[in-house]
Amino acid sequence: MYKETAKELIQFIEKSPTCFHAVAVMKEELEKAGYVELKETDKWTVQKGGKYFVTRNDSSLIALAVPEGEMKGFRIMASHSDSPSFKMKENPEMTVDNKYVKLNVERYGGMICAPWFDRPLSVAGRIIVKENGKLVTKLVDVDRDLLMIPNLAIHMNREVNDGYKYNAQKDLLPLFGDIAAKDTFMKTVAEAAGVKAEDILGHDLFLYNREKGSIWGANEEYVSIGRLDDLQCAFSSLKGFLAGEKQEYMGVHCVLDNEEVGSGTKQGAASTFLYDVLVRVNRALGGDYEDYLRYLAGSFMVSADNAHAVHPNYTEKADPVNRPYLNEGIVIKYSANQKYCTDGVSAAMFKDLCQQAEVPCQTFTNRSDILGGSTLGNISNTKVALNAVDIGLPQLAMHSPYETVGVKDTEYLIQVAEKLFA
Ligand code: CO
Repeated sequence: MYKETAKELIQFIEKSPTCFHAVAVMKEELEKAGYVELKETDKWTVQKGGKYFVTRNDSSLIALAVPEGEMKGFRIMASHSDSPSFKMKENPEMTVDNKYVKLNVERYGGMICAPWFDRPLSVAGRIIVKENGKLVTKLVDVDRDLLMIPNLAIHMNREVNDGYKYNAQKDLLPLFGDIAAKDTFMKTVAEAAGVKAEDILGHDLFLYNREKGSIWGANEEYVSIGRLDDLQCAFSSLKGFLAGEKQEYMGVHCVLDNEEVGSGTKQGAASTFLYDVLVRVNRALGGDYEDYLRYLAGSFMVSADNAHAVHPNYTEKADPVNRPYLNEGIVIKYSANQKYCTDGVSAAMFKDLCQQAEVPCQTFTNRSDILGGSTLGNISNTKVALNAVDIGLPQLAMHSPYETVGVKDTEYLIQVAEKLFA
């Protein structure tokens, strides 16, 4: 069972080279299951027992299932759609010695740079074109081996293995082709999208690793592919959301963009997106603001973003006691300074869900002398204040373009999500 789920996860991620694609794939799944899109520009009509979803910026998505009967509040699982990558700058082509064409890119988020070198890369994202006098957004994926960031030979940099500081403007620019490729990059993108290059008025294009997903290890216990942080949680949340009964609480599957750059955008966790959707849907159901606040007080949110497993070569980097491992269950994350929103109450609520689902859980805290990362739970909580827990699935090589997780853990999160959305 869990191996089938892992294969499905790989397919989901391979269809989602960027946040825009991840949202499109989820939209398709939701529509298949009878969910209806609510546009932010429309006046909403919402029914009891109805199934809906809303997107913002084509990169964040919130799906809602309204209970048939009396509602107790919201049950939310929130994850993120974006991953660290390189974003194409405007006018990206740069010629070198009149022999090469390389591309001008900048970093999006905090990636591990080294594994981006010497491997086939491609470009995907969205373009905005003018069609019959109207601006239309289209997804695009060039979907072939198109680019490479070649390393410098060790003979010309003898210190490369002693630790190397990468300069984003010098070291990390991908090679696109020889001089014959001049002035063809946007044409290549346009062709892949089925439009004319001159009609493209705007774009958000990212590099992605072409390497396919793999299930590997002595007993096929590991799964590797890019963007597991956080598409593994987004995928599990969607599966559990669709499978759950959603009877007493409004089920809310929430996937937000821009977590990797601090969430401070119109569609990120620091925005009003979740707040706007919950307030509007409550109002469309005939409730007032008092009802919204009442519901919120009885609600629960699971902020699901991947966690660090103990690394086999760096065991000393983990906390001496709280040490998550791959395939040993969902990780509850704690931080005294509330980088994670978990507290005693929300941890207990989540452990209770794990017990109901008969799924193992584990504990993560940073070593007290390591700062660690942050996530979207505490940020979202400043806009939509409710009981919330930060959890994740254990992984290695977070923010590499090829990350590693356990083959069993996706299924665990799906089962707990199903209980959350019971
Ligand atoms: Co993440």
